[in-house]
Amino acid sequence: MKKIIIANWKMNPESREAARALASATDAAASKAASVNVAVAPPFPYLGEVAAALKHASLGAQDVFWEKQGAYTGEVSARQLKDAGASHVIVGHSERRMYLGETDEMIGRKTRAALEEGMTAVVCVGERERDGAQTPSVVASQTRAALAGLKRSMLKRLIIAYEPVWAISTSRNTRGACSPDDMFRARLIIEKTIAGLFGDQASRSVRIIYGGSVDKDNIAAALADGRMDGALVGGASLDPDAFAEILRRAAAV
Ligand code: PGA
Repeated sequence: MKKIIIANWKMNPESREAARALASATDAAASKAASVNVAVAPPFPYLGEVAAALKHASLGAQDVFWEKQGAYTGEVSARQLKDAGASHVIVGHSERRMYLGETDEMIGRKTRAALEEGMTAVVCVGERERDGAQTPSVVASQTRAALAGLKRSMLKRLIIAYEPVWAISTSRNTRGACSPDDMFRARLIIEKTIAGLFGDQASRSVRIIYGGSVDKDNIAAALADGRMDGALVGGASLDPDAFAEILRRAAAV
């Protein structure tokens, strides 16, 4: 399976022009890293702009609503995202869980809606506190909720992103980094949870990636020692040179 590196721009940059420039630079970097898949998830208003700039990377969105159509002010359906050119969508990011009150149940519905529409869903799971005691139960229960009601045939388009909230760059402070051992442990929990519901073989078709302060210095260890199938990159994806270096190092693993 090819590794996948996903740029999560969050609520950045501040103009269409800047989004276009960042997308072009990212695409140029992706063109030189053919052995990895690259996806870029800009804010909704820039989807069209970024779609036009990407030739070597897929387009992603940062959220999706679970209904197909109708009176849901402010929401965006999977079909609309696809029509805008997006093939990937991030679901259940911890910032949405925290600031928008997204629950496991909502995230499960969003995941199902994206997969039913043929999109790749990138579902974020991860514990809030560093101490490690919570990790197995939080990661397993969030993964189980994301899988609720899915068909086995959908799993090949499912990506689980292990993102320990304490390791995300904007909330990290002095709490330190997530080690490749911690990543691998989380991987085993996620695999076991999927296997418990769908069997061993199905669990191997789900890509498990890491997010949380990924940069040029930790990407190789995350992929090699942490056994991650890719990464979800926030802060460093806004700096084209930093992102290009991450892609270079990921391609060399
Ligand atoms: P970060 O963000 O790379 O800035 O830590 C990752 C994420 O929140 O998806």
